[in-house]
Amino acid sequence: MSSLDRCHNIEALRQQAARYLPRLVMDYIEGGVDDERCLLRNRSAFDDITLLPRYMVDVSSLSLSRSLWGRTYAMPLGIAPTGLAGFARHGADLMLAQAAVKGNVPFVLSGAGTASIEQMAKVAPEHAWYQLYVSREQRVTEDIVCRARDAGVQHLVVTVDVPVHSNRERDVRNGFVPPVKPTASTILNALCHPVWLARFVSQGLPRFENWAPYAPPGASAKQIADLFSSQIPFTQTWRDLARLRQIWPGRLIVKGILHEGDARQAVEAGADGVIVSNHGGRVLDGAPSPLTLLPAIRQAVGPDVRVMMDSGVRRGADVVKALALGADFVFAGRPFMYGVAAGGQAGAERALAIFQRELSLTVSQLGGWGTAAPPERSPSSR
Ligand SMILES: Cc1cc2nc3c(=O)[nH]c(=O)nc-3n(C[C@H](O)[C@H](O)[C@H](O)COP(=O)(O)O)c2cc1C
Repeated sequence: MSSLDRCHNIEALRQQAARYLPRLVMDYIEGGVDDERCLLRNRSAFDDITLLPRYMVDVSSLSLSRSLWGRTYAMPLGIAPTGLAGFARHGADLMLAQAAVKGNVPFVLSGAGTASIEQMAKVAPEHAWYQLYVSREQRVTEDIVCRARDAGVQHLVVTVDVPVHSNRERDVRNGFVPPVKPTASTILNALCHPVWLARFVSQGLPRFENWAPYAPPGASAKQIADLFSSQIPFTQTWRDLARLRQIWPGRLIVKGILHEGDARQAVEAGADGVIVSNHGGRVLDGAPSPLTLLPAIRQAVGPDVRVMMDSGVRRGADVVKALALGADFVFAGRPFMYGVAAGGQAGAERALAIFQRELSLTVSQLGGWGTAAPPERSPSSR
């Protein structure tokens, strides 16, 4: 049995990733904003919801598959965009894309990704979505959108919850904020992870591949990173989304929606779907858990708009809870980063297999996709 096969749940994959990665990278993946209360809230929101089973139902042929805009995926779970994945493992973005193809789920390449749109579209022509960060220069945004269109990408995910940098104190402590300057203790810790370090040294610094065309020819990874930092984050408004709607022919999805009014405005500006998300607790520590907002947002946009969610999904049962509360589809970020760090493409496939097995067991136990019950009232509040 390989060490990946011994990972029976996402937490075990997380522990394996933590052994392989130096603190600098593990903290970058794990970390949240400020005091990381939002991170905890994302998890406790799932714990607070219970699922009500119906028994005496024939579950021998229950299907996990889900259709989204005419395409049927193996299950209602996709791989969320995660920037700088190449720090976890060289080539991570394409490994995730290939795992998505094999598992028949969507993969969203990050606007801060370390593979290019064109490379991604080649390995995952049907399953790859692209996440856009609107940049300071409109010509750059428009060029990226045209490149995605020309590469055959059909889903554009516009992230709206990063108007400014966020205060991730683990990254600050490690010196992993621009201008990147790892502390002595961070370097010492990296030396204690020789397998990661040897790969990192031999394969070189990952680049923001999608930004290379806008940097001077022959620019180094650092110069491309400087260019990226000069363009992102940038304040955007609904007018920018309406402009994107005019030039983007495919599905337009807005990621980072929490307020039902914003969900309505996104639809008015031409969005086909929204991802209810607090960026995995990485941008606003006081933000509510997306799970708790699903019923109101579903009601605000009506049945014809695709409502998706992420933030805190770690179990198949979490996917079922989100669907029972109004989501059409769910994404997870860190679980796939743990997988790809722990075992490359095979690790990402392992994460998908874990989710799929848990999802199947939960749906079978429920006798279908189930009904979610609100938090149980504690004895003292009765
Ligand atoms: C390491 C890391 C990098 C991320 N980078 C991006 C990004 O570039 N663009 C984006 O829209 N979201 C980004 N996210 C947020 C994810 O897309 C997703 O919203 C979040 O991870 C969901 O929470 P979860 O990790 O608890 O599943 C990132 C998340 C992580 C953990």
